[in-house]
Order: sequence, then C-alpha cells, then structure tokens
Amino acid sequence: MRHPVTYALTAAALFAFLSGFTFHSGDAFAAPKFEGRKKCSSCHKSQAKSWKKTAHAKAMNSLKPNKKAKAKKKANLDPTKDYTKDKDCVGCHVDGFGKKGGYRIGKPKKWVTGVGCESCHGAGSKYRGIHRKGGAKFEKKKKTTPRKALADAGQDFDFVEACSACHLNYEGSGWKGTKKPYTPFTPEVDKKYTFKFDEYVADVKAMHEHYKLDGAFTGEPKFKMHDEFQSKAKVGEKTKVED
Ligand code: HEC
Ligand code: HEC
Ligand code: HEC
Ligand code: HEC
Repeated sequence: MRHPVTYALTAAALFAFLSGFTFHSGDAFAAPKFEGRKKCSSCHKSQAKSWKKTAHAKAMNSLKPNKKAKAKKKANLDPTKDYTKDKDCVGCHVDGFGKKGGYRIGKPKKWVTGVGCESCHGAGSKYRGIHRKGGAKFEKKKKTTPRKALADAGQDFDFVEACSACHLNYEGSGWKGTKKPYTPFTPEVDKKYTFKFDEYVADVKAMHEHYKLDGAFTGEPKFKMHDEFQSKAKVGEKTKVED
C-alpha cells in the first residue's frame, strides 16, 4: 500500500507541472508588445539619429492644422482642421495604434508617436532581449545566433506587409488586407502616391540610412536587399549591448 504522503507529493508535482505548463504556453503564445523606440534607439544610435530626419519621424506633424495644406486640399481634407486626435488618421502616423503597448489617442506617448522602429521591424518586447544576448555572445565568443530566433519572437524581415498596411490600405490597391480607415493619399489623388516597394524601401527621405553590422545574426529569414544595403552601409556608432 502506498503512503498518503506519496499521493500528496504526486498531486503537488502534477499541479506544478500543469500550472507551469499553462504559464509557459500562455507566455509563448502571447503577442509581443510595442515598447517604443527609446529602447531600440539606446542601442542603435546611428539608425535612430538618421530616422529622426525622415518623413516617417515627422508623420504626426502632418496631422496638425495648417501643415501640408496643399496636399490636404488636393485630397479633400480640411487644411485648418486638427487631425491629431482623429481615429481615422492617427493609426498610420504612429506605432502600434490599437495594439498592446501602442499609441493611444487619450494617452499619447512620445516614444510611439510618428512611424517608428516597431512599425517596420515589429513589436519589440520579445526580440529585443535576443538582440542584447546575441550581441553579447558575439562580442565575447564570436558566436552567432540564427535570425530565425528573432523571427519567432516577432521581428519582421519581409517588410512588404508592414508597409502595405499603411501605404496600400485603400480600396482597389490590390493589397489583400485592406480595411477602413483608408489612406486619403492614393494614386487617384496624385500618381506620386503610387507605392512601389523596391523604390520606396531605398528612399532616404523616408528610410533611415544603413550602418554596418558585425554579423551577430545569421541565416534566413534575411531581407532580400540586406546584402545590397550592407555593401553600401556606413560605419556607425558601435551598437551597445549592456541594456
Ligand atoms: C504605420 C504606417 C506606415 C508604415 C508601416 C510605413 N509607412 Fe511609409 N509613410 C507613412 C506615412 C504616414 C508617411 C507620410 C509621412 C508624412 O509626410 O507625414 C509615409 C511616407 C513614406 C515615404 C515618403 C513618401 C514621399 O512622398 O516622399 C516613403 C518612401 C515611405 N513612406 C516608404 C515606406 C516603406 C518602404 C515602408 C515599409 C518598409 C513604410 N513606408 C512603412 C506611413 C507608414
Ligand atoms: C491607412 C493609413 C493612413 C490613414 C488612415 C491616414 N494616412 Fe495620412 N498618410 C498615409 C501614408 C502611407 C502617407 C504617405 C503617402 C505617400 O507619400 O506616398 C500619408 C501621408 C499623409 C500626409 C502628407 C501628404 C503629402 O503629400 O505630403 C498628410 C497631410 C496626411 N497623410 C494626413 C492624413 C489625415 C488628415 C488623415 C485622416 C483623415 C490620414 N492622413 C489618414 C497613410 C494614412
Ligand atoms: C519605414 C520602415 C523602417 C523604420 C521606421 C525603421 N527601420 Fe530599421 N530598417 C528598415 C529596413 C527596410 C532595413 C533593412 C533591413 C536589412 O538590411 O536586413 C532596416 C535595417 C535596420 C538595422 C540593420 C542595420 C542597418 O542599418 O541596415 C537596424 C539596426 C535598424 N534598422 C534599426 C532601426 C531603428 C533603431 C529604428 C527606429 C529608430 C528603425 N530601424 C526604423 C526599415 C525601417
Ligand atoms: C541591448 C541592445 C539592443 C536593443 C535594446 C535592440 N537591439 Fe537591435 N541589435 C542589437 C545588436 C547587438 C545587434 C547585432 C548587431 C550586429 O550584428 O552588428 C542588433 C541587430 C539588429 C538588427 C539587424 C538584424 C539582422 O538582420 O541582422 C535590427 C534590424 C535591429 N537590431 C533592430 C532593433 C529594433 C527595432 C529594436 C527595438 C525594438 C532593437 N533592435 C533593440 C542590440 C540591440
């Protein structure tokens, strides 16, 4: 006959196993959160400085009254109106609108205002820690980390979907994910608003400049123009790994 203590222990172990299991699976499947560009920028100083000068960084300004008046008139918008709190506008001029940690109209946060790092690279709460660890491992032991670990943690290496969600979100754009509110700036308003991915992704007015990586992350998924961008990349400030 078994001793009652054995039963108690078994039950406790089973409970620990089950609750531990639930906790871990819940954790692993929860969507990554938007954290704001402050974190990214503290390690990636050169990209952050370059980004600040881009149209994406200044996207919120375009929603203010009397800014870009000509463009607004042409798109049948009221140039004197303040659109900075308009839910039909802000979603594409900030990071993570309506998502965990993202921009909120009643509670605007500076670090998610404008089209920042996470709008293109993905919400960073899960992958940024891998950057720190991967960077440190590479610095100390020259050991690399597969990019797949970053992709699994929510980092985007394709960009096409990310750009399309803002640039091709209008009826008849050909992008499958369209849903209201649409962008008022379509090729019908002016053909200069035609989104051509390969051209736009290399446009320095809107995209930050590229700086040489040491190669801490390797393998697929790798952005199709990664090698081309890296071959022409500048030498930037050293990426810090202490967080
Ligand atoms: C969260 C929405 C959003 C995402 C994601 C986004 N953009 Fe933009 N983009 C904008 C907005 C808004 C502007 C206009 C900024 C302004 O002038 O106010 C803009 C402007 C631009 C411009 C400048 C256009 C011009 O008229 O000079 C380029 C180029 C561009 N984006 C390329 C891209 C590319 C490439 C991607 C993906 C890698 C991308 N964008 C992702 C919202 C977005
Ligand atoms: C679905 C995403 C989306 C929504 C919603 C959106 N925008 Fe934008 N907006 C963009 C993109 C993308 C651009 C950049 C277009 C380009 O230059 O190719 C842009 C550009 C602009 C520009 C600059 C145009 C120029 O020629 O410089 C202004 C001004 C602007 N938006 C105002 C607004 C206002 C006001 C609203 C709400 C009525 C709004 N946007 C809603 C995505 C959006
Ligand atoms: C509009 C989209 C967009 C935004 C916003 C953006 N990036 Fe990027 N970023 C890219 C693209 C595209 C690449 C090229 C990817 C590659 O070559 O693998 C890139 C590359 C990088 C790289 C790799 C090294 C390099 O310079 O090419 C780093 C690091 C980086 N971005 C950090 C940032 C940080 C930090 C921010 C915010 C301050 C930011 N990015 C904002 C699109 C964006
Ligand atoms: C603690 C520092 C740290 C933080 C925080 C951090 N990174 Fe990184 N990141 C690194 C290091 C180190 C590398 C590897 C650099 C190399 O290979 O030279 C890297 C690599 C990258 C790359 C290139 C990946 C590739 O394809 O090789 C991109 C893009 C990037 N980071 C974007 C971001 C974004 C966006 C954020 C914010 C959500 C962020 N990083 C936060 C340290 C950091």
